[in-house]
Amino acid sequence: MSDLDTLAAEADRGIAAAADLAALEALRVALLGKQGSISALLKSLGAMSPEQRQAEGPRIHALRERVTAALAGRKEQLEAATLEARLTTETLDLTLPSPEAPRGAIHPVSQVMDELAEIFADMGFAVASGPEIEDDWHNFTALNMPETHPARAMHDTFYFPDQMASDGRKMLLRTHTSPVQIRTMVADGAPVRIIAPGRVYRSDSDATHTPMFHQIEGLVIDRGIHLGHLKWTLETFLKAFFERDDIVLRLRPSYFPFTEPSVEADVGYAEVGGRRVLGGDGNAPGHGWMELLGSGMVNPRVLEFCGLDPSEWQGFAFGVGVDRLAMLKYGMDDLRAFFDGDLRWLRHYGFSALDVPTLSAGVGVRA
Ligand code: PHE
Repeated sequence: MSDLDTLAAEADRGIAAAADLAALEALRVALLGKQGSISALLKSLGAMSPEQRQAEGPRIHALRERVTAALAGRKEQLEAATLEARLTTETLDLTLPSPEAPRGAIHPVSQVMDELAEIFADMGFAVASGPEIEDDWHNFTALNMPETHPARAMHDTFYFPDQMASDGRKMLLRTHTSPVQIRTMVADGAPVRIIAPGRVYRSDSDATHTPMFHQIEGLVIDRGIHLGHLKWTLETFLKAFFERDDIVLRLRPSYFPFTEPSVEADVGYAEVGGRRVLGGDGNAPGHGWMELLGSGMVNPRVLEFCGLDPSEWQGFAFGVGVDRLAMLKYGMDDLRAFFDGDLRWLRHYGFSALDVPTLSAGVGVRA
């Protein structure tokens, strides 16, 4: 047997006996590595005579190929065995209790704001916002409530005692979302079609009033806007929000300094088992009208304050209490509980994070 045959037989034996991947790798290095025995044979070809090389070359190359294939085959075997061993030792105990489910719920106020954004987006309204710490120019003056206007007193405003804006304006917590009307018109001009949901503050507290509550403002400015557009918008919004086609609206003359004319919108309800259920004509027997929101055509003075020409642009605006909308739709009766942070209340009235309001599914599906 030549040296080559001996080497081949030894390599075969060693490879078959390699017990693990590390042993096999050591063998590969010893045979085919830089200092390996087969590599040395290949190097020896250079020193041979052409005849010798012609005879030995193919044998040495064949040996290298054979050993390479044997190494790969054994490697595959060892890897399969390792996997097999892992699969038999690793077990998954399906009887273990499931991991704790994530806690927390979406607050009804957030849910209702999302519902409103969805409804108004469908009518082409964008969502705008403004600061909760406002100055009295945006909160009052530009809304046609000068310093001495009696309506200012009605707002129970929280003023910052020693804060002034750089231009001498008094700082306060905004008492309504209407200053967002001003900010939007000043920044973007006209036309405008926005809603502005957010927190507002008034020094007032009982079962239906909390010092902080939520409003949503609506503002449309364009050419040729009239009261009919306002009524249609409110009606469409309320039908979508309460998911009832029989919502009947009554517009009643009212007064806000920033709208002219001003209208309060009432919604008809039926008295059912001591509970008021929205829907139907409020004048029908056993029915009544519930005051729901303030609105009106934007006062030309307000347009002027914002740099718009009232002979070119008209518009309407409305403001609604978001908490009140939530109470009416989901049946809570004490506003204060909204902000107590009582986990039992939150779990009961909260929404699943997956319960994203969509018009196609009905805006207020409960999990
Ligand atoms: N800002 C008014 C309020 O807080 C509501 C309102 C908004 C009225 C827009 C008319 C137009 O009571």
